[in-house]
Amino acid sequence: MYILGIETSCDETAVAIVKNGQEVLSSIVYSQIQEHTPFGGVVPEIASRSHIEHLLPVYKEALRQANMTIDAIDAIAVTSKPGLMGALMTGVTFAKTLSYITQKPLIDVHHIYGHLIAAFLSDSKPTFPLLALIASGGHTTIVRMDDFYRFETIAKSIDDAAGEALDKGAKLLGLGFPGGPAIEKHAADGDAKAIVFPIAMPDQLNFSFSGLKTSLRTYLIKNPPLDETSRKNVAASFQEAIMDTLCTKLEKAMHKTHIDTLLVCGGVARNQCLRKKLANLSQHVFLTPLAYCTDNAAMIAAAGYYSYQKQGSAQLDMIPIAHAPVVSFSTDPDMTGSHAAS
Ligand code: KG4
Ligand code: ZN
Repeated sequence: MYILGIETSCDETAVAIVKNGQEVLSSIVYSQIQEHTPFGGVVPEIASRSHIEHLLPVYKEALRQANMTIDAIDAIAVTSKPGLMGALMTGVTFAKTLSYITQKPLIDVHHIYGHLIAAFLSDSKPTFPLLALIASGGHTTIVRMDDFYRFETIAKSIDDAAGEALDKGAKLLGLGFPGGPAIEKHAADGDAKAIVFPIAMPDQLNFSFSGLKTSLRTYLIKNPPLDETSRKNVAASFQEAIMDTLCTKLEKAMHKTHIDTLLVCGGVARNQCLRKKLANLSQHVFLTPLAYCTDNAAMIAAAGYYSYQKQGSAQLDMIPIAHAPVVSFSTDPDMTGSHAAS
């Protein structure tokens, strides 16, 4: 089954074609980073307008690279939740129009489900049951996955997400946007033990990163001005605190659930410091391929494949949802909501 995936939930305009949820035939991502950099973060209105401008060329390029025409596509999958409402609306409208014109099934995909399924685009396939850490700009969550369709949230951030903390930390350090890669680059030559930043709520499974941000701000106020060496040391220490927090909570979740298979996904999963630390936690760590950690449409097309098996296609009156937790698929054979088996 050939699925064309569309992703526009934040600041990447992406279209991909994936066969049977496994084989990526093309994956085109237009990153809007340069458009948002002058503002130090994603501007929702700019994101929506940029999606409108780039969706059609990105779609055409995805078909061209896969050497296919739309006639050969079996279904259209699109991120419908969660995300920036205006940005989601552009992709959903594009997908609905395509579905209507071509009379091909429309599949609505949860963005976080897409991140989880991205790990299965690796050659080494994760095995169930597993604990999945989703660490992105909008989410920091640990989910227990028993199969492709059943999951339970074990822990989540009560405030900022890990990627958000990196983005805000980089801004305080004057390192630019997006913060994760900028901090990682500066941290490479820094001393991660130079400053001890706190790990919040070490006894609990849930994450909290807003105190860490305050701690960084306080440090910077008390220690001006930063020379280049100190900036690198602060970046390395701040990154260390975030990655240690992620690993500490994962370890707790492993003890609690007696599950030692780990899946790690989302933009922060690109971080090499985190990837190294994870290797010490378990011998069964499944890391998402680097190309599919940050937002992309291959993960949406792949997730669309599994989603379609379970809940069929979405109706054309389906609407995007800005905030929505990731929940297990319905076990009701008649299915619920706007879905109907096709
Ligand atoms: O998954 P993603 O593309 O978007 C969301 O769904 O949020 O994740 C973006 C986040 C940003 O916060 C960015 O700073 C972070 O992922 N990120 C990284 C790295 N690359 C991207 N964080 C740490 N190290 C990286 N190499
Ligand atoms: Zn994402």
